[in-house]
Amino acid sequence: MAEEILAGKKIVLGVSGSIAAYKAAEIIRLCRKVGAEVKVVMTEGACEFITPLTLQTLSGSPVAIDLLDADEESAMGHIKLARWADWVLIAPASANTMARLVQGRTEDILSALCLATEAPIALAPAMNNKMWTHEATQQNLAVLIGRGNYILGPDSGDQACGEQGKGRLLEPEQIIALLSQLMVPKRLSGKRVVVTAGPTHEPIDPVRYIGNRSSGKMGFELASAAAEAGAEVILITGPVHLTTPSAVCRIDVETAEQMYDVVMDISDADIVIGCAAVADHRPAKYHKKKIKKSDSESSSLALIKNRDIITAVSLRKERPFVVGFAAETENMAEYAKGKMKAKNLDMVAANQVGKDLVFGADINALHVFWSEGDQTMATAFKSHLARELMTLIIERYDAKNSTKNS
Ligand code: C5P
Repeated sequence: MAEEILAGKKIVLGVSGSIAAYKAAEIIRLCRKVGAEVKVVMTEGACEFITPLTLQTLSGSPVAIDLLDADEESAMGHIKLARWADWVLIAPASANTMARLVQGRTEDILSALCLATEAPIALAPAMNNKMWTHEATQQNLAVLIGRGNYILGPDSGDQACGEQGKGRLLEPEQIIALLSQLMVPKRLSGKRVVVTAGPTHEPIDPVRYIGNRSSGKMGFELASAAAEAGAEVILITGPVHLTTPSAVCRIDVETAEQMYDVVMDISDADIVIGCAAVADHRPAKYHKKKIKKSDSESSSLALIKNRDIITAVSLRKERPFVVGFAAETENMAEYAKGKMKAKNLDMVAANQVGKDLVFGADINALHVFWSEGDQTMATAFKSHLARELMTLIIERYDAKNSTKNS
């Protein structure tokens, strides 16, 4: 899980005055569950909504409230806290706290700490939707983003004030997931990664096509994992019903030939991952008019072979690191290794289809092969597997480049 990256991290959790302050309790619990250390800093407003004692008990540390706290034993001074933090997370971040950070004010311990720290700061805003959309808040938001702060949310929906709209604090699980993503080392920064995903549809006539059961989930998760690792990601997908991962450039195609053309147009990719279930064949002839039902008991459809996309990529003179997939129902290892050789791949990720593991499911298991080794990845959610596989791809990509350069 991406959340594992929080283990051992020192997080200052700033809590400001909002009805959503009660969610800070769950944020602390989730952070500590994965092994992070949390020290809480509260604004005066936050203390009106939740007691410091609650957050002190959950975090296992004294809560800092006063800037000028004489008792150094019970509260770390703001400078000490600023130095201690690996990350500062402000959740909820009120409109007032955002404004104070923009102005660089120091009359409360949270604002002073944010001015003094070199740690990255993430804010999860929470406020009434009118306050959120107000020009003043939006301008403050732009300044905070411009200074390199990270903004998590807010969400839309029912608000405590009875109104509807944008301004709800994200759920604690979402905040932790996003914070974890921000912490992933950007090992692919400056690199371009191309991912193919989904099925292809090969039209027979205006209403029929040859397709397959690929959902595109694994390819989308891989694109997301590559973006989290800092890559510029181009996701080329066949027809799917999935939302584009953030910070990913998506190009939609329908057929194998279209996918081939788009992939081959990109000549400067560092890594290409062929996760699409590309149709091996397409109808030899496209009928412009719908083919009429015939009375005969049997009929046939002439097919021609589609060009193999990842083979074409791997035959390029300046070839990227190429990863293919193999879905097999039997002799998985043998077939996968054969495919790696035949297609000149750097790595192949094999998954067994049939049994409980089916196309389109949310879970999968992989056996990954490269020329010098292999690694099995146990059954897990595709989001998890994609991150595990991306870590391995980065490792092998770095290893290949270091031997090339030595
Ligand atoms: O040969 P097979 O279709 O089993 O190989 C699967 C791998 O090859 C996948 O990585 C798939 O994306 C890729 N492929 C391709 N172009 C094709 C067919 C498969 O890139 N025309």
